[in-house]
Amino acid sequence: MFFKQLSTVDSSLSYLFGCGTAGKAVAVDVVAGDEDWFVAEAAKAKSRITHVVDTHVHADHYSGGRKLASLVGADYCLHKNAAVRFPFHGLHDGDTLDLGNVIAKVLHTPGHTLDSICLLVTDKRRGEAPWFVVTGDTLFVGAVGRPDLAGREQEMAGRLYETLQRKLLTLPDDVEIFPGHQAGSVCGAGLSGKPSSTIGFEKRFNPGLRIAAKDEFVRALVAQIPARPADIDRIVAANVSG
Ligand SMILES: [Fe+2]
Repeated sequence: MFFKQLSTVDSSLSYLFGCGTAGKAVAVDVVAGDEDWFVAEAAKAKSRITHVVDTHVHADHYSGGRKLASLVGADYCLHKNAAVRFPFHGLHDGDTLDLGNVIAKVLHTPGHTLDSICLLVTDKRRGEAPWFVVTGDTLFVGAVGRPDLAGREQEMAGRLYETLQRKLLTLPDDVEIFPGHQAGSVCGAGLSGKPSSTIGFEKRFNPGLRIAAKDEFVRALVAQIPARPADIDRIVAANVSG
C-alpha cells in the first residue's frame, strides 16, 4: 500500500492511497487547485487514479474532485443521495472500491450532511481486518462534525449520534482515523492539530464520543455550533452545479 495525506487550504486534509502492485489509487476530498499534486503523486507511485471520491458535497471549500477525475479519466464518486446537478458515480453503503491489495469499503454516515460517507480501508497484504477509516467531516480528532450546514440541526445531530454509535464506534479500537480537517477548520468545534488518531483513543478522549445518551449528545452539539463558514452559499452552489 502507499498512502499520502495532504494538508491543504482551510485546514482541510486530502488523501491519495492505493496498491502499488496493482497500480490503482483513489483520491479523496481533493481541493480545487491541488489536482496537479495528485497527478504527480500517483505517477511517483506508478499508479493510475481509478476513483476520485468526495466524502460529501463540501460547504467550506471548492472541490477539485470533478476536475481531477476528468484529468485522469477516473470515476467521480459521491454518495448516491448527493444533491448535485451533474452526473456522477453514485456510491451505496457497503460498496467496495477494489484497488488490488487495497480495498476501500463505503460506509454511509449521515449527520454532518445527509450524503456523508466514510471509507473503511483494508490492506490484504497486512491482514484481513480493516486498518484505517477516512472519516471526512463525520469524526475528527478531538471533535465530531457540525450538524447544521443544511439546517435542521437537531435532527441531523441525532443522525450523527446514530452514525457514530452504530457505524464508527463499533469498529475495532486499533482502527486508525484520518479525518477531513484538522484544527483551524470551521467544520467542527475543538478539532486537534494532530491529523490522525485511532477509534480507541477517540472513544476515551473525544468529548463528543464520551456522551452516552442521545438527547444529551444532541443538546451539547447544537449548543457549540461554530460560526457559519464564509462564502458558504457561493461554495455550495459551485460544488452542487460543478
Ligand atoms: Fe464538510
